[in-house]
Amino acid sequence: MKTNMHIAIDGPAGSGKSTVAKRLAQRLDMTYIDTGAMYRAVTYKAIQKGIRPGDRQGIIDTAAGIRIELKGSEILLDGADVSGNIRDPLVDARVSEAASIPEVRERLVALQRQMAQKGAVVMDGRDIGTSVLPDATFKFFLTATPEERAKRRYKDLAGSNPGMDFDMVMKDMQRRDLLDSTRGHSPLRAAEDAIIIDTTGKSIETVLQEITDIVGGAGRCFTK
Ligand code: DC
Repeated sequence: MKTNMHIAIDGPAGSGKSTVAKRLAQRLDMTYIDTGAMYRAVTYKAIQKGIRPGDRQGIIDTAAGIRIELKGSEILLDGADVSGNIRDPLVDARVSEAASIPEVRERLVALQRQMAQKGAVVMDGRDIGTSVLPDATFKFFLTATPEERAKRRYKDLAGSNPGMDFDMVMKDMQRRDLLDSTRGHSPLRAAEDAIIIDTTGKSIETVLQEITDIVGGAGRCFTK
């Protein structure tokens, strides 16, 4: 494996990017970095500390003092595994606010670049191809219709949140899409040199194969 191989996978919630990125990293024997989990961890910690919505400085201070480690699919916040907690709808409701604060982004982007310097990574997020790793070896941008994305998100959430209602999930997703794509600092958008893949109606396996074909077809040599 080339140690400087960096694959950026961006896209909105429910586009399938996290599942595809995780599986791609396993298949290519690379490290998977879920940057959304990092914004979620800051948000979760701010909620734990009682920081109120709108308290920018409180969120900035939270991000400044945080210790985040990614171990496979586990996310450790100050040493404790918070992988389940960060997917809570309460975190969904507040994460776009934290992600819109430039100081929070600067801190997390610095951590993400440090992680990428250590070797071959598949990194997923919203601004990986445009900002975090502008020189990534490959950049993919995954999309899907809003209905399909909301259905996927609903399926993910319904198991652990029995009261969940589809329209609520759809509305929250649209609200987050709008905030993420219109914020002033590194908004959600495809890099000019990204390969755009519409995942509507496609299985994870199909998308994974499409990406693997592109990566492999570019003449790179992989161990898996
Ligand atoms: O991918 P996700 O749903 O776990 O991301 C959670 C939030 O974090 C999402 O609303 C947008 C934000 N985010 C971001 O702004 N930049 C990233 N690189 C990753 C996520």
